[in-house]
Amino acid sequence: MPRDGGDNSTELPVRARLPTEPVGVLGSFARMQENLLSIIPQAATEQKILSGRTGTRWHMVMHPPALREILLERVADYPKSVVTRNLLRPAVGDSLFVAEGAHWRWQRRAAAPAFSHRNIASLGPVMTGAATRSADRIASQKHRAVNLLDEMTTATFDVISEVTFSTDGSFERASVHRAIEAYTEKAGRVSLLDVLGAPDWVPRPGRVAATRSMQKMKADADAAIEARLRRGPSATPDLLDLMREAEDPRTGRRMSTSELRDNLLTFIVAGHETTALTLAWALYLCTFDQNVQDAARHEIHSVVGQRAAEAGDLENLGLVRRIIEETLRLYPPAGIVSRTAQKQDTLAGAPVEPGDTVMIPIYALGRHRTLWQDPDSFRPQRFADRQSIDRYAWLPFGDGPRICIGASFALQEAMIILATLLGRFRFTRVPGRDPAPVMILTLRPDGGVWLTAEPV
Ligand code: HEM
Repeated sequence: MPRDGGDNSTELPVRARLPTEPVGVLGSFARMQENLLSIIPQAATEQKILSGRTGTRWHMVMHPPALREILLERVADYPKSVVTRNLLRPAVGDSLFVAEGAHWRWQRRAAAPAFSHRNIASLGPVMTGAATRSADRIASQKHRAVNLLDEMTTATFDVISEVTFSTDGSFERASVHRAIEAYTEKAGRVSLLDVLGAPDWVPRPGRVAATRSMQKMKADADAAIEARLRRGPSATPDLLDLMREAEDPRTGRRMSTSELRDNLLTFIVAGHETTALTLAWALYLCTFDQNVQDAARHEIHSVVGQRAAEAGDLENLGLVRRIIEETLRLYPPAGIVSRTAQKQDTLAGAPVEPGDTVMIPIYALGRHRTLWQDPDSFRPQRFADRQSIDRYAWLPFGDGPRICIGASFALQEAMIILATLLGRFRFTRVPGRDPAPVMILTLRPDGGVWLTAEPV
């Protein structure tokens, strides 16, 4: 069997050039608007904590015990940052991603069963269908280079729109897709100014236009929900059916139509692009080590044969899982998450005051010199021994009570699509077309992921 390695690759996958000078001077806002990763100093891959002031006081935390405190032990003292809430509320209301306190708790309790292992597994056929269509589209390109970023965006949007607002034709997929892209593109840029406490007079373009496309998207979503309410549930319950039935076990509270719509839109915003990025980056990374690709293909063919992968195959696709895990270490779609401190505290030896912005630079954490060996290399095999990895060094889905509710959904979808594609094609890079890691709202391969797909 081919080696499950990665050690023989001398070339490194692209990484962000992190600044070595202090951040935050107003003059560098323009650069930061182009790429939020540029607020992460190189020192964040070496130190436990960095602090500074740009309007508000901020800290970047890279120390596992302090991260455990923020995300798990003292979660009430570190709610989502004001910036995150202001940014996302216009799009997704006071839904699961944004709400705090009691309003968050009841929604999380109500939504949890929709994301149970059994329910996610039953969505497998939708994912397998999308994977098959994606592989067929790639095959039809006849050896020409394919932009796998676009292709994966189409495939994951197929899945999420089918399991949220689904297929009776009343839901305008393309228009919702455009609205979400416009919002993340425009409103996402606004956030950079806010994160760093830029004064209010610094103009925030995009906000108005983004709001308009959001209104259209909400109207489309409402129409789709109405149509579904008239038609009754699907034979296999999808996320819309499950969320319609969702009920807080403690209080019996159920979601109103607008709460339902806001949460389903949240799933699209939070779940679709993130999974597409994971897949696009994973395929990009696989081109750095043909041994890894060969080993994965061997695994896939022996478990799955020549058909498309299904949810039931995944427990036997260990290497495919490790490729996804390693991808999420190197290119976490949520490259930075942030909180606003409510109380005085000390994190990794640094004093924290109420109102301080506390950032978790997940991107830097995954490349931290003291937490990972050879941090910039693609070596999926490092995930074979989970004991050797600090739980708080790998946080692509966050942790604690606010951990991503869609993590199993995303992993299942990513594995089904990746296994199906690696089973059918050998991917190689197109020289001179490496993407650049750019974070607006999520960490994207700017320029696309152009690969040649040769049928195997
Ligand atoms: C690879 C794909 C994904 C990544 C990397 C990802 C990442 C994250 C992260 C880091 C958080 C926590 C943010 C924080 O603590 O500030 C989060 C929360 C969340 N994610 Fe995901 N996510 C992914 C896929 C999904 C999917 C597929 C869905 C839904 C179908 C989803 C729905 C949510 C929701 C609703 C929350 C808020 C949970 C809460 O606060 O209770 N995500 N995600």
